[in-house]
Amino acid sequence: MDLLIKNICCIGAGYVGGPTMAVIADKCPEIKVNVVDINKERIESWNSFDLDRLPVYEPGLDKIIERCRGRNLNFSNNIAHTIASADMIFISVNTPTKKKGLGAGQASDLKWVEASARQVAKYAKGHTIVVEKSTLPVKTAKVIQNILKTSKQNSNKNEPTFEVLSNPEFLAEGTAIKDLELPDRVLIGGENKHAIDALSSIYEKWVPKQKILHTNIWSSEMAKLTANAFLAQRISSINSISALCEKTGAEVKEVAHAIGTDSRIGKKFLSAGPGFGGSCFKKDILNLVYLYKYYGLDEAADYWSGVLKINNWQKKRIANYVIDKLNGTVSDKKITILGFSFKANTNDTRESPSIDICLDLLEEGAILSIHDPKVDENQIRLEFEERNFKNDTKWTFNSKIDENFQDSHAVIILTEWDQYSDLDWFKIEKLMLKPAWVFDTRMILNLDTIKKSNINFWRLGKIINENKLTPN
Ligand code: NAD
Ligand code: UGA
Repeated sequence: MDLLIKNICCIGAGYVGGPTMAVIADKCPEIKVNVVDINKERIESWNSFDLDRLPVYEPGLDKIIERCRGRNLNFSNNIAHTIASADMIFISVNTPTKKKGLGAGQASDLKWVEASARQVAKYAKGHTIVVEKSTLPVKTAKVIQNILKTSKQNSNKNEPTFEVLSNPEFLAEGTAIKDLELPDRVLIGGENKHAIDALSSIYEKWVPKQKILHTNIWSSEMAKLTANAFLAQRISSINSISALCEKTGAEVKEVAHAIGTDSRIGKKFLSAGPGFGGSCFKKDILNLVYLYKYYGLDEAADYWSGVLKINNWQKKRIANYVIDKLNGTVSDKKITILGFSFKANTNDTRESPSIDICLDLLEEGAILSIHDPKVDENQIRLEFEERNFKNDTKWTFNSKIDENFQDSHAVIILTEWDQYSDLDWFKIEKLMLKPAWVFDTRMILNLDTIKKSNINFWRLGKIINENKLTPN
């Protein structure tokens, strides 16, 4: 059997499909990589001449798109034709939590994965390797295999054949290109040696062979969910410690550093913050919880639910802390929000802690002035509307950062964008109403500078003795 892959199709041009395929195209100029999507606007943006208009912001992505687009990387809505000419198809579509029906609020909604499998079954020709790139509940490969098998039996075209592999993606947003170019590992789950070798040979163009792990297909699906659950668990653990630090005089940054030097614990993923966001941690843990319940393993379901419970509590307690420090009321008070993306270096706002914290303050009557270097006003509106908050008169967005501080009672740093770490607080202080407050939920501000200003300052995970209550 010919192992050489010449034509790749990726279904789904999102945060994973776009950057992943761009890197494959860059590293394998001999392979044609075609990314397809049902969303016309998204494809138009991927094809935009203005690289600032790419639908995904990732450092380094624009350069790769510039190099490869039109050479061996193409974006289109031509799904049927692209599937027909591919010898390997990546399914990289969204797998959000189900909103209604059986398992609503926990199970992953696999309708986009199923639809992709049906498109593959309908249009594929010859022998096609189908690769699960999306994060999926364990056993989904069986669903895909069944769709492909059944359609084959019903079809009268020239009998395509399929192999299904699992190849979950571990990139993090904001560092996607680095993660794809220098991955800790590439995971391939499957049984068929030819198919596994074909996929491995693509990664071997730039990833050392010993970093390409092979497992059975269920272990691969399970490992992806487990990795995200463990990462989220670490964040909830350190966030729970941050609250105790604030009561006792310990400093969470120092505690994290002290425990992180233990090589068994390791130093990564120990930054306390306003709670984890992003499209995946919550949905993947909910999915695990659903699987545990499905198999009657309720104690384990409760254990992992606890990680989400702490995450919600962290967001809530930050909003409550701000309200408390502003004399128990934020009604009609202007508050400046710095950062709306769920982490720095991405324009993604899905499940951003900023959403819940802003909505809690809006609910209390605050008037918000929001800034983010990569998120636009429309995206913020969509997030608020999604949570049924539709009052546009209570918040504004201003991309000119300095204009957000005028007459503000408080500033809350919610995303760790670099530019927020060295703001001129002496200048800002003059614009704000007194007593002025800064709440740093990302622990990025220079304490020496802020302490010299007349602004009251709170840092997550640390007791601060505020006494600068100078009235206006
Ligand atoms: P996304 O929503 O950004 O992109 C998914 C795309 O798939 C959308 O553009 C959508 O229009 C398209 N799509 C849906 N159904 C389609 C169909 N039938 N035919 C063609 N296109 C279709 O999602 P994402 O963030 O890229 O995530 C994709 C998957 O990867 C999810 O399972 C996610 O859990 C997983 N994942 C995401 C990340 C991340 O950082 N975002 C990292 C690792 C894994
Ligand atoms: C995460 C994982 O890191 C990726 O390996 C995985 O592929 C991806 O989910 C996925 O499956 O979607 P991502 O959500 O893009 O990546 O970003 P992270 O860096 O993991 O951050 C997630 C959230 O946790 C952010 O809100 C971030 O601010 C927060 N975080 C992260 C902390 O609060 N503290 C930390 O120490 C690290």
